[in-house]
Amino acid sequence: MLTQPLGDGAELRALEPWRAAEFAAYLDRVRAHLAPWLPWATTITDEPSARQWLQRYADGQAQDGIRIYGIWLDGELVGGVLFRIFDLHTQTCEIGVWLAPEVQGRGLILRAASHLIDWAVGTRGMARVEWRAVSSNVRSIAAAKRLGMSLDGVLREASPHHGTRHDVEVWSLLAGEWSGMPSGQPS
Ligand SMILES: CC(C)(COP(=O)(O)OP(=O)(O)OC[C@H]1O[C@@H](n2cnc3c(N)ncnc32)[C@H](O)[C@@H]1OP(=O)(O)O)[C@@H](O)C(=O)NCCC(=O)NCCS
Repeated sequence: MLTQPLGDGAELRALEPWRAAEFAAYLDRVRAHLAPWLPWATTITDEPSARQWLQRYADGQAQDGIRIYGIWLDGELVGGVLFRIFDLHTQTCEIGVWLAPEVQGRGLILRAASHLIDWAVGTRGMARVEWRAVSSNVRSIAAAKRLGMSLDGVLREASPHHGTRHDVEVWSLLAGEWSGMPSGQPS
């Protein structure tokens, strides 16, 4: 995938190490919005740390493992989706997502994550797609539900973050439950 149209001027593209400066500038702009939920939004502070992180995903992709994609809206980087886990042995993957605050509420994540699921399940034979969210992350949990996921359970106090241990909800979608891309989406 070089560029996957998401409709309404939005595009999904691989977020590769050569985009580190753009990614670092994006994080500077939206850090306060992402940091309560995503530890890497705090630890990636400049272009070298952004490059190092993106390189980890590039290396993962080269080994047919983890992958990361950005979402651009009218040419501006506004968010992203990733496979935090992509394990062909267990046929299990886990998706993570984020957006700039001003572009929430347009269905960008529904569309971008649907493309990832469609590829993981339809093309790569994944049996199980996971989604993990801190229990108080209402928007993330709503996104998991919108994708047709079911709650597997709660990992109590599994996530230490900013000095507090948070419960983590594990949501999942099984291959047979995937109903395909939301209607009207570019494929
Ligand atoms: C989690 C996060 C990515 C969810 O973003 P989001 O904008 O709510 O999700 P989507 O892009 O799928 O948009 C869905 C919303 O768009 C609305 N929408 C508008 N047009 C739509 C369309 N054409 N198709 C689908 N939904 C549409 C939906 O009704 C929904 O709004 P609602 O929640 O008010 O009902 C975002 O809140 C975020 O970045 N949070 C901080 C980082 C984070 O928590 N990441 C996850 C860690 S587990």
